[in-house]
Amino acid sequence: MYFLYCLFLLLVCAFLKVLHKFWWIPSRIHHHLNSQGIRGPQHKFLYGNGKEILQMRKEAMESPMELSHDIFSKVHPYFYTCINTYGKKFLIWLGPQPQLIVTEQDMIKEILNNKEKSYPKQEVWAYVKKLLGEGSVTSEGEKWTKMRKVANIAFHGDILKRMVPDTISVVEMMLERWKEHEGKEMEVSEEFRLLTSEMIARTAFGSNYLEGKNIFDMLTQLAVLISRNALKFRLPGISKFYKTSDDIESDKLVKEIHVAILEVIKKREAKMAGGVIDTLGSDFLGLLLKAHHDADIDSRISVQDMVDECKTMYFAGQETTTSMLAWTVFLLALHTDWQEKARNEVFQICGHNHPCSDDIAKLKTMALIINESLRLYPPVLGLDRESASDVRLGGLVLKAKTWLYIPILALHSDPKIWGKDVHQFRPDRFSEGVAKATNYNTAAYFPFGIGPRYCVGFNVATTEAKFALSMILQRYRFTLSPSYVHSPFQLMTLKPQHGIQIILRPLEKQ
Ligand code: HEM
Repeated sequence: MYFLYCLFLLLVCAFLKVLHKFWWIPSRIHHHLNSQGIRGPQHKFLYGNGKEILQMRKEAMESPMELSHDIFSKVHPYFYTCINTYGKKFLIWLGPQPQLIVTEQDMIKEILNNKEKSYPKQEVWAYVKKLLGEGSVTSEGEKWTKMRKVANIAFHGDILKRMVPDTISVVEMMLERWKEHEGKEMEVSEEFRLLTSEMIARTAFGSNYLEGKNIFDMLTQLAVLISRNALKFRLPGISKFYKTSDDIESDKLVKEIHVAILEVIKKREAKMAGGVIDTLGSDFLGLLLKAHHDADIDSRISVQDMVDECKTMYFAGQETTTSMLAWTVFLLALHTDWQEKARNEVFQICGHNHPCSDDIAKLKTMALIINESLRLYPPVLGLDRESASDVRLGGLVLKAKTWLYIPILALHSDPKIWGKDVHQFRPDRFSEGVAKATNYNTAAYFPFGIGPRYCVGFNVATTEAKFALSMILQRYRFTLSPSYVHSPFQLMTLKPQHGIQIILRPLEKQ
C-alpha cells in the first residue's frame, strides 16, 4: 500500500512538472508578451507550432515556383503567413519554447551589436551540437574568444594571398571536369560542393578533398538528420532512455567524425615529429595545434575544442560558399546581360591569364553581382540569439531565455527598404555602396551577420568565389537549362531543391 502511495505521489509530481514546463511557463510568457502587443499563432500543448511549420514547409517543397526571385513565401511559408497576419514581430512556439521573430531593424541592431552579452547565441540544440560541437559558431564567453582569435589569424588578409595558387589549381581541376560537359547540360551545385570542399581541405587543413571526403560526407549526413529532426517534439531527457534510429545513427556519425578528424590532427603532429615539416604550420590546423600546445594554460585549447573547431570549419566553409556560388551562377545563367558585363570586366582586367589577388580586388562588377546574389539568395537564412536575463528590447520587456530569431531574407526582400524593384536582379543598386542601396537603412543587408559574431570566413568565401567565377567566365558562356526547376529551400543553408542545371558553351567555339 505504502509503495502504491509513493508511486502515486511520484506520478502526480511528474505530471505537475510536465504541466508547469509545457503549459504554465508558455502561458505566462504568452500572456506577458501579449499584454505588450505581441501576437502570434495559438500555442499548442507540447508541440507549439512545430507541426504547422513542418507541414507548410513540406507543402512548399512539393510544388516548384515560377522563375521569380520573390522567394520568401516559398522558403519561409510559415513566417510569411505570420508577418502578414501579426506584423513585423511575432511570437511562435517551438515545442514549449517561445521564439520571438524579429524583423524590425532597430531591434536587430540592438540584438546583434549588443556588447553587454545580453543576447548570446541560443543554447545549442542537441543535434546541432553533434554537427558543430562547441566551436566558434556555437560557443560563448571565454571559449568563443579563444576560438575566434585562432580563426581571425587563420583567415587574415596576408594568409589569403598565400591561398591563391591552391585556389587556382582547385578551380582548374573543376574546369578540367567540365570539359566533358561542353555543349551539354550540367548540374553545378554538386560541382561547387566538390570545389569548396577541396578548397577548405587544402587551405585550412593542408590536405585534400579525398583525404577529408569521409569527414565531409559524414557531416552532410548529419546535416540531413538535423533537418529531419528539427521542430519534432521530444520530451526532454527521453533520449537517455529511448533512442530513435536517427539518434543512433547520428551518435555513430559523431564518433566516426571525431576519429577521422583526430587522424588529420595526428598526421600533422607526426609530420612535425618526423622532421618532414619544421613548424606546425600557419594554416588553420597549424594554428589550432599551436593553441593546443600554448605555454599559457589559459589560452590553451583541448583536443575536443580542436575537433569541434575543425568540424565547424569543414562544415561552415563548405556549405555556405557552395550555396553562394550555385545561386550566383543561376542568376548569371538567367540574366545573360550581366554575365556579359562580368565577362568583359574579367577580360579587361586579367585578359586570358589566371587572375591574381590585385586583379580580384579590381573586379567591381563581379562584387556588385555577388552582393545582389547574397541579397536575393542569402546562404544563411537566419540568425538566432536569446535573452540572457529579463531585458528591455525596443520598448518590449522580454523574460530571460526568450529565443530570438532574425530571418535575414525578410529584410533582404522588404520593398520598404529596397524599393519597388526589390525582387528584381539589379546588381547596379549596389554601385554606390550598401548604404545607398538600402536607402540608408541600417541592419537591412547582412548576409554575413552584424557585430562581434560577424562571419570570420567572409573574405575567404568572397575571394574564392571571385576566382572561380572569373575563371569560369574566361572559358564559358552559360544559360539556364530548360530542365531547371525553381525550388529554393532550406537544408541548413539555402539550397536549390533539384540542383541548378546549365548549358555550357566554350567561348572559342562560338
Ligand atoms: C558565402 C559564404 C558565407 C556566408 C553567407 C556566411 C554567413 C555567416 C553568417 C551570417 C554568420 C553570422 C552568424 C551569427 O551571427 O549568428 C557567420 C559566422 C561564421 N562563419 Fe560564415 N559565412 C560564409 C562563409 C564562411 C566560411 C568560408 C567560413 C570558414 C572558412 C565561415 C566560418 C564562420 C564562422 C566560424 C562563424 C562564426 C563566427 C563567430 O560566431 O564568431 N563562414 N557566417
